[in-house]
Amino acid sequence: MSIYSPKNLVPKFFANTSRSYDKIVRYATFGKDMLWKRHILDKIHGKSILDLACGTGILTRMIAQKFQDDTIVGVDITPSYLDVAKSNSKSFKNILFVHQDAEDLKIGQKFDSIVSSYIPKYCDAQTLIKKCILHLNPNGVIILHDFTYPNNIFIQNLWNFYFVLLRFIGYFIPTWNDAFVELPKLIRSSNWLENYVSAMKKYGLDVEVEYLTLNSCAVIVGQKLNS
Ligand SMILES: C[S@@+](CC[C@H](N)C(=O)[O-])C[C@H]1O[C@@H](n2cnc3c(N)ncnc32)[C@H](O)[C@@H]1O
Repeated sequence: MSIYSPKNLVPKFFANTSRSYDKIVRYATFGKDMLWKRHILDKIHGKSILDLACGTGILTRMIAQKFQDDTIVGVDITPSYLDVAKSNSKSFKNILFVHQDAEDLKIGQKFDSIVSSYIPKYCDAQTLIKKCILHLNPNGVIILHDFTYPNNIFIQNLWNFYFVLLRFIGYFIPTWNDAFVELPKLIRSSNWLENYVSAMKKYGLDVEVEYLTLNSCAVIVGQKLNS
């Protein structure tokens, strides 16, 4: 990992933010986060589901609610996020949370759907997809969602202005200050979408890309069509 790796931002963004994350993600995306997660939910199939970088477990619980007879595994690298996830999921008997680095994934089972919201930009595409492939059943899907920098100039200006506002708000929420400053730079410089499409194709997946909400984020679905 180079010192400039986006992975270095993970402890900076997440070590001290687990308690406020749910509120921040809801308000900072104007409630769109929930719509994006529902969109992911519609694409999930099968009996075994892995939520990578599950964070506080927002998506994990939505999956567990919809697929009540299945066991859902949530994996995250940040212990404090997993603590919140476990504490908020006590009423769910079908969720198992595991502390692991997704780039070093080792779960003793395979899954029909592997999903993740907001992990792609922090990880190396080839490494993550290779690990996912090792954990994917035939006909399984990998569904990845993350922020993108819109390509329309007018939307770009709006987007940049929004992050200036967010940076200002960050002065009043010190635990989020680093994230509000660094996140727009990371999104603007990230080639995660192209990198994951190419990694998925390299491993023989059938790939579909869909942009959402003025191209401010995208979902990639890669399906393993053979055995
Ligand atoms: C923005 S939060 C998203 C949480 C959740 N997916 C959601 O949509 O609400 C990003 C999460 O990714 C986790 N993360 C980042 N890199 C990771 C890695 N290599 N392995 C596992 N988790 C990782 C962080 O710990 C953090 O909880």
